Amino acid sequence: MEVSRRPPILYGQLMALRVEKSIPTKDGLALPMIGFGTWSLRGQECVQAVRCALDCGYRLIDTASFYGNEKDVGLAVGQSGIDRQKIIVQTKLYPNQYAQADKAIDEALRKLDIDYIDVMILHHPAVNDVAAYHAIERVIDEGKVRAAGISCYYISESSRFLSRVSKKPILIQNEIHPFYQDTAVIEHIQALGISVQSWYPFGGRGYAGELFKNPTLLEIANHHNKSAAQVVLRWHIQRAVAVIPGSSNPRHIEENREIFDFELNDEEMRLIAGLDRSEKHDWY
Ligand SMILES: NC(=O)c1ccc[n+]([C@@H]2O[C@H](COP(=O)([O-])OP(=O)(O)OC[C@H]3O[C@@H](n4cnc5c(N)ncnc54)[C@H](OP(=O)(O)O)[C@@H]3O)[C@@H](O)[C@H]2O)c1
Repeated sequence: MEVSRRPPILYGQLMALRVEKSIPTKDGLALPMIGFGTWSLRGQECVQAVRCALDCGYRLIDTASFYGNEKDVGLAVGQSGIDRQKIIVQTKLYPNQYAQADKAIDEALRKLDIDYIDVMILHHPAVNDVAAYHAIERVIDEGKVRAAGISCYYISESSRFLSRVSKKPILIQNEIHPFYQDTAVIEHIQALGISVQSWYPFGGRGYAGELFKNPTLLEIANHHNKSAAQVVLRWHIQRAVAVIPGSSNPRHIEENREIFDFELNDEEMRLIAGLDRSEKHDWY
């Protein structure tokens, strides 16, 4: 496989850019505040959803070995006709791959059928996570991967981890939504100069419906002539938290990107802060 050398993605200006569409990087690329999540999408449904997302302007796609859809994501990226360098592809190694991370990274490249991965993420803290991260650090130097990220690392997990690696991750992806706001963790990560990306920005499948019926969100949405989903995504990005909502519905996919033409005021942000229940929807 031919591997091209690319400068690493730099990530440092997040706090100053809290409501921008993306974070500029050294080489002119940008890490978008909104990307597209692909958990639970498989086969043609996944290809179509990712194509739809790319067609309507998303430029960051989140997948993982665990989702079993890297092949479909790669297919959609290839079919889109969009310059590969304009798309950020992020994928994840699962803990059962950590002991043989080099092999797993090559496997991800093969399944995605692309010649580099933009952000390679560790899915969870686990035995051998530091060794797996060292493998990612090596392949960044080789040009197979541009940047590293970690997922499901909170304060104690990230403190333990970061002291043992040399390249700072550009992002930490954690469960964050109005019912699980995790503000102290976000502030801790952002103070380290690391981007926070929310998984389950709507609380996840099975919970999103309840969130969208919340009277506080509906009232704010009504005031801005937006949907509750758009208000939630706008709330995230005004906290400088990037989002990767998932959807198989083209209308929702399009709607979720239309969050840069309105602003929540301090009172609205305070009301949404009041919805926190410290209610985590997944175990990790
Ligand atoms: N790192 C990790 O451990 C981890 C864990 C979980 C997830 N993730 C990532 O985070 C991404 C997001 O999580 P998720 O997709 O599971 O949950 P989510 O984004 O919180 O919610 C998705 C649900 O919201 C609905 N939805 C989306 N947009 C909508 C809209 N505008 N109006 C009404 N309903 C809407 C979707 O239904 P429709 O399909 O009908 O639109 C779907 O049921 C995943 O796809 C994955 O990439 C990472």
